[in-house]
Amino acid sequence: MIITKPPMGWNSWNTFGEHISEQLIMETADKMVEDGYLAAGYEYLIIDDCWSLRKRGEDGRIVPDPQKFPHGMKYVADYVHSKGLKFGMYSCAGLMTCADYPGSYDHEFVDAQTFAEWGVDYLKYDYCNFPKTADCQHRYRVMSMALKATGRDILFAACNWGHHECQHWMKSAGAHTYRSTGDIFDKFSSTMWIAQDQARKLYASGPNCFNDMDMLTVGMYGKGNVGMVDPEDPTKALPTDEEYKTQFALWCAFGSPLMIGGDIRNMNAFCKELLQNERLISINQDAACNAPIVLESSEDAIVFARHMSDNSVVLGMVNGGSEPARMYMFLDEIGLPADAPYVLRGTDAFTGEDLGVISDYILGEVPAHGCRLIRATIEKK
Ligand code: GAL
Repeated sequence: MIITKPPMGWNSWNTFGEHISEQLIMETADKMVEDGYLAAGYEYLIIDDCWSLRKRGEDGRIVPDPQKFPHGMKYVADYVHSKGLKFGMYSCAGLMTCADYPGSYDHEFVDAQTFAEWGVDYLKYDYCNFPKTADCQHRYRVMSMALKATGRDILFAACNWGHHECQHWMKSAGAHTYRSTGDIFDKFSSTMWIAQDQARKLYASGPNCFNDMDMLTVGMYGKGNVGMVDPEDPTKALPTDEEYKTQFALWCAFGSPLMIGGDIRNMNAFCKELLQNERLISINQDAACNAPIVLESSEDAIVFARHMSDNSVVLGMVNGGSEPARMYMFLDEIGLPADAPYVLRGTDAFTGEDLGVISDYILGEVPAHGCRLIRATIEKK
C-alpha cells in the first residue's frame, strides 16, 4: 500500500483516554459525516488504547472489552465502513500498552490477523513496556511484515516517540507514518515544543512515510484526557482560539498527519471551521510534500517557508511569546534577493484575503501565541 499524502482522521485518545465505547465511536462516525469532516478529508476513525480486556483469550487473541464494545470490533468496523470512513485501531510493540492492556510483542502475526479479520485499515503501534533486551527496529519490522502477511491494506502508523532517531529507519521498516515526539498536551507550550523539535527532522518526511507530530488538541479547551485544566482554578491558562489557529497552521505547514483529538460531537463553530479550512488543508495535502526551509526555531519564534507543488510558497511566522511581537522575514533569506526582478504576491492562508505585493520583506505584528501564514506566488516587479 502506498500513501501519497498525510493521513487525516480522528483519534479517541486526547479527549477520551480509557472512556471509549461502541456508542462513542458510532456517534463520532455519524458526526464525521454529518458535519463535513469526511468531505474535508478526515477519513480515518481511530480507537486508541484501552479497548480490550486486560488478558488475552484462551486462543491467544486480544479480546475487546465487552462492556465497552458489546458487539465486538467487527460490528464497529462495519458501522464505520458503512459511513464511508476507514477504521483504525491501536496496539503496542511492547508487552503491554501504555495503559497496561496486552501488547503485541511476540503476538504480532496473530494480532495483525485479528485486526485484518475485523476490517481494520490503520494500526497505530505504540512503544510502551518494550523489553530491554529486544530490538526496536526489528520489532517494528516484524509488525510491518505481519500486517503485509494479512493481505489487507493496513496503514502502519508507528509511534515510538522518535526514539533511536526513527526518522532514519521507520520508512524502510515499512511504516507509513512515524510519531517522532512524546505526547502532546492541550497547552501552547506543548504545541511549540513539538513544532520546534520536529522542525529539524522534517527532511525525512515525505510520500509513503510522514512525520507524525501527534494528534491535534484543537477544540479541547483544557478538557479531556490530555486537557490541562487546573482543578484549583479552572479558568487558568485555558487554550485560546489564537493558539489553536497556530497549532493547526503548524501541523498543516509541516505536513503532519492531521488527526483530530477533540470531541467532534461537541466542536464549536470556530474550531470546526478551522479544522475544515480548505486553504490550510490544501497546504497540508500538497503533492510535493516538501519539508519547510526553517529560518528560526526557538520557543519564542518559528519562522519558515515551504515550496508548494504549484510553484507558490507558504511563508509562516509564529510568535511563541506571551506578548504581541513585531516579526520579520527577509525574502532574501528564502532565495529572493532585493535586487531580483521579482516580487511575491500574497494571500492570507486562513482567509484567502489578497495581501498584495510583498517585496524585500514581510514585517508585522503577530499576536501573542499567534501566527501569520501567507501563500504567495512569484511575479515580475
Ligand atoms: C502513548 C502514546 C499516546 C497514546 C497513549 C495510550 O504512548 O504516545 O498517543 O496512544 O500511549 O496509552
